[in-house]
Amino acid sequence: MKRRQLLFTLGGAFVGIPIIVSLIYDAITKSKASSISQSPSSAPKFENTSSPNLADANSEISLDTTEEPLLRFAAIADNGFGSPDQFAVAKSMWETYQQKPYAFVLMAGDNIYPYGEIKLAKAYFEEPYAPLLKENVQFYAVLGNHDIIKSNNGMDQINYKLFNMGDRYYSFTKGDVREGTVEFFALDTNNNAPWEAQLAWLDRQLTKSTAPWKIVYGHHPLYSSGRHGGDRELVAKLAPIFAKHKVPLYLCGHDHGYERSIPLDGTIYIVNGGGGAPLYKFGKSPQTAFVSPQFSFMTFDVYQDKIITKAIATDGKVFDRAIITKA
Ligand SMILES: [Fe+2]
Repeated sequence: MKRRQLLFTLGGAFVGIPIIVSLIYDAITKSKASSISQSPSSAPKFENTSSPNLADANSEISLDTTEEPLLRFAAIADNGFGSPDQFAVAKSMWETYQQKPYAFVLMAGDNIYPYGEIKLAKAYFEEPYAPLLKENVQFYAVLGNHDIIKSNNGMDQINYKLFNMGDRYYSFTKGDVREGTVEFFALDTNNNAPWEAQLAWLDRQLTKSTAPWKIVYGHHPLYSSGRHGGDRELVAKLAPIFAKHKVPLYLCGHDHGYERSIPLDGTIYIVNGGGGAPLYKFGKSPQTAFVSPQFSFMTFDVYQDKIITKAIATDGKVFDRAIITKA
């Protein structure tokens, strides 16, 4: 059995074992807002309601606001499994949308298990998200490791209209008509990606960008306490570019669960891989601000001066919130 197949099979052993960190959830609901501010020059200020042990250095920023955001979007990853858990997350996404509509969804890879075959897109993508697609909510995908196995190295997904990709890596802006409120940079983080060209492109595009907010996403984590863990090579490739351009947020999946990091050289790293594939066990690392492997998705409320992030479970409850502000 190939290693990739073995991992996939092992993943199946975790079906139906939602590793709910209820103690942590209790800590969220009971804790007072607190905050951290790290890495002096380039760090965004950061408020955290889920880690009550963090220093309270930013208490003037409130998570509770009635102000409408400039832009609201959602994010999922590791979702295309066709499982009841994927449908449960999709249902929660739809119920959240009905209360607070979001314009689009970032889909951070492993869009179609197990081999990325586009013939499964109907069952593993169009059906679970049918209500959202009917409302014309757009999905912006990147390629996960599963997406390039039997899909002409991902080209079938790149050419699939509903994934809105256009290429292996791409950028797009949303929000304000002229400048965009946020510019998104979607990466191919697979080993066989055209890394040299992609990194040069990312550096160039971030330099050129006039958007007030710049967010990067890709499938693989730089930092993670899940089964796959972090990736030093990815850190070496991407972290200096993030620091140079003050990218406040990198979103990914691959490890099936939720983990948010403290700011590392100004960037917060969020693993958001609870979209429907079997969950993994997570540990805790020095960079962990909050971890809870459960089936979930995220929403982001973007304001001029802050982004409020929410991780939302299948019951619609928010189990992690944070504020990201600019450096
Ligand atoms: Fe993956």
